[in-house]
Amino acid sequence: MTTKTIAISGAAAGIGRAAALRFASEGWTVGAFDVDEAGLKSLLDDADRLPGRVVTGTLDVRDAAQFKERIDALAAETGRLDVLLNNAGILLGEPFEEIELEAHVREIDINVKGVVHGLHAAFPHLKRTTGATVVNMASASSIYGQAGLSNYSATKFFVRGLTEGLDIEWKRHDIRVVDIWPLYVQTAMTDNLVTGSTTSMGVNLTTDDVVARIWQAVHPTAANRALHQVHFAVGTPARALALGARFSPSWLTRAVNRRIAQH
Ligand SMILES: NC(=O)c1ccc[n+]([C@@H]2O[C@H](COP(=O)([O-])OP(=O)(O)OC[C@H]3O[C@@H](n4cnc5c(N)ncnc54)[C@H](O)[C@@H]3O)[C@@H](O)[C@H]2O)c1
Repeated sequence: MTTKTIAISGAAAGIGRAAALRFASEGWTVGAFDVDEAGLKSLLDDADRLPGRVVTGTLDVRDAAQFKERIDALAAETGRLDVLLNNAGILLGEPFEEIELEAHVREIDINVKGVVHGLHAAFPHLKRTTGATVVNMASASSIYGQAGLSNYSATKFFVRGLTEGLDIEWKRHDIRVVDIWPLYVQTAMTDNLVTGSTTSMGVNLTTDDVVARIWQAVHPTAANRALHQVHFAVGTPARALALGARFSPSWLTRAVNRRIAQH
C-alpha cells in the first residue's frame, strides 16, 4: 500500500515507456497513461515480471478532467504520489508556414496545456507526499529557439519557464520541480524527422540515456542539491549548448544556433 508511486503521461512509447519500465523494475507503482491503448497493453506485457506494478489508463492530456480522474485513481491505490512525469508530447518539424494552423494549435494543446493539466491534477497528491518531485520533459530546444521546429521549441520554452517558476513557488509545499533537456533521442518522434538540426547534430541519444537522467533528477546527488539544479541536460552536446547559451554573447548564441539549424 505504500510503494513509491509515479504517474507518467505518454507512457505507451519512447521515453515514457522506458521510464515506466525503469521505475517498475525498481519496485515502484507506475501509473502509465497514454492515448495509445495498444501501446499500453504491450507495456503491461513487458512489465509483467517486474517487481513493481504498472497500472495503465487511457488519457488524452488535453482533457483536464480525464487527467484528474486518472491521477486521483492512482493516488487512491497507493495513498501517495511521489513523482509526476509530464512526458506526453508531439513534434512538428517542418517550415512554420507549411504546417496547418490546426496542427500548430494541437502541438500547443498537448505540449503546453497537457503539462498544466497534469500539474493541476497532481498537486494535492504531491503536496501530501513527503519529498515529491515533478519532472517535466522539456528539451534542448528550450535553450534557444530552434528554426525548423519553432512552434515545438516555443512549447518547450513554456515548459522551462513553468518549471523555473514552480520550482520556487512549490518549495513551500516540499515539491521539487525540475525539467529534462535532451537533444534528439531515437524514438518514434524522430523516426522520420529531417531538419537542419537533426542533420547537423544527429539523433544520438537512447531512451535509456534520458531515463538515467530522469532517475537522477528524482534522486539528486549532493552536488545537484547544493547547486539547486532545476534543469537536467542529457548528454555532452546538450550540456555544452546550455553552458554556451548562458555565458556567450547573444550574437554568438544566435550564430551557433543558426549554424546548427542550417538556416
Ligand atoms: N525524441 C526526442 O528527440 C526528444 C527530445 C527532447 C525532448 N523530447 C520530449 O520527450 C517527450 C517524449 O517524447 P518521445 O520521443 O518519447 O516521443 P514518442 O512519440 O516516442 O512518444 C510520445 C508518447 O506520447 C503519447 N501522446 C501523444 N499525444 C498524447 C496525448 N494527447 N495524450 C497522451 N499521450 C499522448 C504518444 O501516444 C506516445 O506514446 C516529449 O515531450 C518530447 O517532446 C523528445
